[in-house]
Amino acid sequence: MSKDTIVTLVTGAEKGLGREYAEQLGKKGQHIFIGAYDMDAGKKTQEELSAEGIAVDLVHCDITDQSTIDNTMAAIDKKFGYLNILLNNAGISGGAPKKPSETSDEFLRKVFDTNFFGTTAMVRTALPLLKKAPFGKILNVSSEMGSLTAAMDKNSLFYHLNSFAYSASKGAVNWITVSFAKELEGTSVTVNSVDPGMTATDLLNKKAFEEHGAQSVADGARRGIEMASDPKNDANGTFTQEAGKVAW
Ligand SMILES: NC(=O)c1ccc[n+]([C@@H]2O[C@H](COP(=O)([O-])OP(=O)(O)OC[C@H]3O[C@@H](n4cnc5c(N)ncnc54)[C@H](OP(=O)(O)O)[C@@H]3O)[C@@H](O)[C@H]2O)c1
Repeated sequence: MSKDTIVTLVTGAEKGLGREYAEQLGKKGQHIFIGAYDMDAGKKTQEELSAEGIAVDLVHCDITDQSTIDNTMAAIDKKFGYLNILLNNAGISGGAPKKPSETSDEFLRKVFDTNFFGTTAMVRTALPLLKKAPFGKILNVSSEMGSLTAAMDKNSLFYHLNSFAYSASKGAVNWITVSFAKELEGTSVTVNSVDPGMTATDLLNKKAFEEHGAQSVADGARRGIEMASDPKNDANGTFTQEAGKVAW
């Protein structure tokens, strides 16, 4: 069977940045699997993308539930037998930012369950299918809020945003990138982190994001789309945003 079709799985693709990644990559001819948490919203997105002529499948993929991850990979395996791009977009803020002394274990666990353990499970489970593709790319949607360098730079906006759970979880997402990139060095699979920058979505409060000058999803998704569109791009173990490199 030919492996000419670029097969892409986007998690949390029913709305926000994930929907934009799915739509833009689909318009470039990639076959999109929407990994949806909320199947009603996923169905609506699938119908909208399909109406635009995009080849799109819908799968239930709750990244905190291994059985749905297994079913997602089984569906991709059955249809194509390989996966080119795993866009680990699904993520949560957990709620309003809290100082470390006010952050409960329950809150920390909730955020890490999705952002760190969920993303790790996606990477681990997708690897066999990624290795069967002519090239494989794992893109972890991280955040500059996970950058230790920015957090300690008094001139950075991120110095003043002490959002313990979310920032620590995105720092941990960067460790997923670094650790798997080293393990997969020399193979056909690369792993990179991308930072969309502050984007007006439902991640926390869309209205507040807009009031603080957040960019549109089209702008926020640009770097991820660039990274996911060029099969020859063999960058591995990087952390970038549209403006360039982000310090770890
Ligand atoms: N917006 C920003 O300023 C910004 C900046 C830097 C990085 N990011 C990152 O960008 C990514 C996308 O966020 P967004 O801003 O587009 O927010 P969003 O609109 O809230 O989208 C997040 C998506 O992930 C889904 N999701 C949550 N838990 C999930 C799970 N367990 N399994 C599968 N899907 C799950 C959400 O579904 P439900 O809505 O049904 O829960 C939603 O569809 C996140 O990783 C976020 O951390 C965002």
